[in-house]
Amino acid sequence: MMNCKMIGTGSYVPDFVLTNEMLEQLVDTNDEWIVKRTGIRERRIAKGMHTWELGLKAAERALEDAGVSVDEIDLIIVSTCTPDTYSPIEASVIQDKLGAKCAAMDVNTCCTGFINASDIADSYIKCGKAKTVLVVSAETLSRITDYTDRGTCVLFGDAAGAAVYTATEEADKGILSSYIAADGSGAEYLYMEALPLEEDPLHSDRTFDHTARFLKMQGAPVVRFTATAVPSAIDEALSRAGLTAADIDWVVPHQANLRILDVIAKKYNLPKEKIYVNLDRFGNTSSASIPLCMDEMRQKGLLHEGQTVVCTGFGGGLTYGAFVVRL
Ligand code: COA
Repeated sequence: MMNCKMIGTGSYVPDFVLTNEMLEQLVDTNDEWIVKRTGIRERRIAKGMHTWELGLKAAERALEDAGVSVDEIDLIIVSTCTPDTYSPIEASVIQDKLGAKCAAMDVNTCCTGFINASDIADSYIKCGKAKTVLVVSAETLSRITDYTDRGTCVLFGDAAGAAVYTATEEADKGILSSYIAADGSGAEYLYMEALPLEEDPLHSDRTFDHTARFLKMQGAPVVRFTATAVPSAIDEALSRAGLTAADIDWVVPHQANLRILDVIAKKYNLPKEKIYVNLDRFGNTSSASIPLCMDEMRQKGLLHEGQTVVCTGFGGGLTYGAFVVRL
């Protein structure tokens, strides 16, 4: 059986930097509160840019990093909870802009999207349906953020990250295991409306409240959920790979809250230096956050052949998951 190796990464963040000081002008908050509770100092905001534009730039960089041409891609998977359109899907738009001729699909598991998209890539490659898969995680959270709600607007930013996976015969390389899960009973804690409900669509005046699409979150229950869900996902992924915490070189968690980073460090007895963090500079960029971290780590020379990396995500749904990848 083939394995699914990560051979390239790419990322893109928009230029505009939204600092805590700027947020102080918008809502009743302050730099000290935001840094202490969230660890975030700044985030990037896409002004006049589509989600697919961010995704395309990340995809092009990942393909270049991997040395893969568009003709070699068998499948493009885009994870996003902030698509520009329901149709066409983002993956089709990016496929067209790249000039690729392969299959394309979107997945939406909110902030867990990169884990699910990588799990699908792994499955396609392992069963022989695809040789090379491009995963793109692109998000413009600013479009669903309520900049009058201090409980959420300090958290989110825009970004895209991408990874190229390809089939390898090397038995000990690539995605060694993955685990994806969901707990719909907590769905209300992280909520965002898509299509407004209508009593009578035939006779509706169709004047909708556009603020209904804004993301609403109850922060404390989400923290409690992640504190158990994330370790359970890591445990399951490690056990499926036949590994223990002692084998981990890096944990790359979804960048959402500081507390989960502490939970991971304590539970697995890992020095904080092994848990990658860029939350301070980009905030929570939903499904883009893990590939954004991976790409930054590659560029900084922190990732080396043979290392074992655990990627773990969680988010709306509530969804969660993890995979173990050997570089
Ligand atoms: N600035 C200043 N005060 C703020 C604030 C802000 N930006 N946001 C909230 N507050 C206030 C609240 O109004 C509340 O005031 P009150 O006690 O007078 O009512 C107080 O701070 C505490 O609010 P609370 O929501 O209990 O804070 P918290 O300690 O739970 O921290 C989060 C809030 C959002 C940082 C935290 O809940 C969190 O990290 N949640 C998880 C987010 C997450 O992981 N999302 C993932 C989605 S993928």
